[in-house]
Amino acid sequence: MTLSTRIQNAVEFIRTRTDAVPTIGLILGSGLGDFADTLENRLVIPFTDIPDFPAATVPGHTGAFVFGTSHGKSVVCLQGRLHYYEGHPMSVLTMPVRIMAKLGVETLVLTNAAGGVNKDYRPGDLMLITDHINYSGSNPLIGEHLEEFGPRFPDVSDLYSSRLRLKVKLAAVEAGISLRQGVYMMFSGPSYETPAEIRMARILGADAVGMSTVPEALVAAQCGIQVLGISCITNLAAGVSPTKLSHQEVMETAARVHDTFHSLVDLILKEI
Ligand code: HPA
Repeated sequence: MTLSTRIQNAVEFIRTRTDAVPTIGLILGSGLGDFADTLENRLVIPFTDIPDFPAATVPGHTGAFVFGTSHGKSVVCLQGRLHYYEGHPMSVLTMPVRIMAKLGVETLVLTNAAGGVNKDYRPGDLMLITDHINYSGSNPLIGEHLEEFGPRFPDVSDLYSSRLRLKVKLAAVEAGISLRQGVYMMFSGPSYETPAEIRMARILGADAVGMSTVPEALVAAQCGIQVLGISCITNLAAGVSPTKLSHQEVMETAARVHDTFHSLVDLILKEI
């Protein structure tokens, strides 16, 4: 079955459950999935209900589309994203973005947990993504070009919309939420980076490293969807601190800043 058919089948299935036209999409990273529970008028569609939909496997990620409203806006959340390191081809793990595009999404908010490369960063910091470096070794747009989703060679010079970033920065200042701004660099994972790789990342201009977000952002860009990205710095990257990296530390920090992160995402939904 072609990717295009899989996407179309998923959209048709979702349309049997809801006629919502969400304008905002939200993809929630490690430890943040429960934001979807705060939406009003919620409707949950588990991935497992959707024909030919790939399965999520990471602990801390459940796997569902959650439709609802927030500040009077129609929203769809992806609770439990798909990752490259799970073995999904990038064209497959970004299916939810194309599904969202077909449902009506115009703005996509991507969140993730990331390691802090910038030496000023501390675990618990929130970072507005200004740009990315795709060091994953792949690109979700490789392969057959699906004309219906946009150009073969999309421009990504303002991928993380400077207009939306400005809005978010102003709103965050007003709400007293401190926000870093920096470049996110994607590694494939699932091993964390070596200290040498982190030194390289710093030299190349990265402020944070992680294993997600870039594929979804690129597909959204192709679809003409505006993108916002927020990283929760859950740990200092390899070699920056003497302690070993662990998924437990990532989840613990995400839990600690949970409430602030929720407030920020809520603010974003209100402002955009
Ligand atoms: N590296 C890569 N991905 C991550 C990290 C990290 O240090 N922390 C959370 N996700």
